[in-house]
Parts: sequence; structure tokens; C-alpha cells
Amino acid sequence: MTVTPARRSSRTTLEASLLFGVPMNWMTRWPGDHPVFVDRAEGARFWDVDGNAFVDFCLGDTGGMAGHAPKESLEAIAEQAARGITLMLPTEDATWVGREMARRFGVPYWQFCLTATDANRFAIRWARQITGRSKIVVHDWNYHGSVDETFATLDDDGNVIEREGNLGKPVPLAETTRVVEINDLEGSSERSPNATSRCASSSRPSRTSGSCCPIPDTTTRSASSAPDTRPCC
Ligand SMILES: Cc1ncc(COP(=O)(O)O)c(C=O)c1O
Repeated sequence: MTVTPARRSSRTTLEASLLFGVPMNWMTRWPGDHPVFVDRAEGARFWDVDGNAFVDFCLGDTGGMAGHAPKESLEAIAEQAARGITLMLPTEDATWVGREMARRFGVPYWQFCLTATDANRFAIRWARQITGRSKIVVHDWNYHGSVDETFATLDDDGNVIEREGNLGKPVPLAETTRVVEINDLEGSSERSPNATSRCASSSRPSRTSGSCCPIPDTTTRSASSAPDTRPCC
């Protein structure tokens, strides 16, 4: 895929105001010199600023699992936005959502947060409080947001060290974290050494972030020509 002036100028604009030229700095790890700059999305597709169409297997990292810009959600969001959305106070809707989540999932009490990082932090705190243990166990190189304890990896001798580029750690990560490789059942087990110091296991059984594949432009390509496919997320 060629880098067009539109995409290059978006990059230049972002670099003028955003750290490392991306809105969230894990995006610097996407392959390619020029990340895909999105113009708009609908259903399972999005279009970049150069007009290329993509099938989006990420779907907002599950936030858009039902597709982008569903009509019903747009209408409900617009209606609520017109009545105010940043009140910092309880509303009838919040209690309804709590009850509905309890009905669907069978857990009686709910706590809201705005990001997955927040959710992980809340869960780790509860686990520490309940177990009286301090360490968490993570799978090597899994992503858990900006939770300090999770930026740990292993050196060649199997010692817990921080990942390269980790900035401003509060304490050495060996104090907070055990790291196991995916599928290391022994290391993940409650019977493994150090298990007694662990309060929680933060793991991802599979990647939710998949990849985005450009789809053929049917106006310029024949149906039989293969589309370019490249992961972007
Ligand atoms: C398991 C897990 N934890 C945390 C995060 C970070 O999400 P957020 O940016 O909402 O904090 C992600 C995002 O991919 C995730 O998959």
C-alpha cells in the first residue's frame, strides 16, 4: 500500500502535538512507517483518509463488537448527550445497568470504570484485599493496559525484569509480579514456587485485538484479483 500525501500529512499533524506522533503510545508498535489514519467507520468496515476500505477485525478491541456506528446506539447516545452526560452523580440509568448486569451475569454488585486498565487495577486491588497476598502473575508480553505491575518480562535466567522502555516504575517489578509463558501450566499452577505470594492472575486466553485487512476496491480491481492483506493492529 502506498503512502499518500493525505496520510503523510496526518502523520505530520499528529507529530506536532502528540507524544511519538500517536494518540496512545502502544500504537507506535503497529507495523509500517505510517499507521492507518481512519476517516470513518460503519458496520464491520472503516475507511482511511486516503479512501481505502478495510475490514476491521479489531472492532474497537471489543468496544465495537456489534459493528461501528450502529443506528440504535447513535440515537440513544444523541438523546442522552442532549440531556447531559458528565454529571459525576448517580442516575436512574446507572442503577438500571447494575440490575441488568446482575440479571445477565448472576453477580450482585457492579462497579463502573472507564478503561480496561482501570478494571484491571480494581480487580488487582480486590484480589490483594481478599487474599492478603501482594504479587500478581502475568503471561509474558501480554498487554494489560498501563497497570505498572504488568510491564514485566523474564531475562535469560528466568528472573523477572521490566520490559525495555518501561518508564517510571514505582518499585522493581520482581517485587510485584511473577511472569509465566503462555501454556506454562506448571508455572501458572497454585503448586508452583512463589504461588503463595500471588493474589491474582492477569491473563488473556486469546488475543482480542486481531488485524485489519484492506479489502479490494471493486471499482478498480477485478473480482478475481487478490487484495493486499496486512495486519495493522
Ligand atoms: C486485557 C487488557 N487489559 C487492558 C487493556 C487496556 O485497555 P484501556 O486502554 O481501555 O485501558 C487492554 C486493551 O487491549 C486489554 O486487552
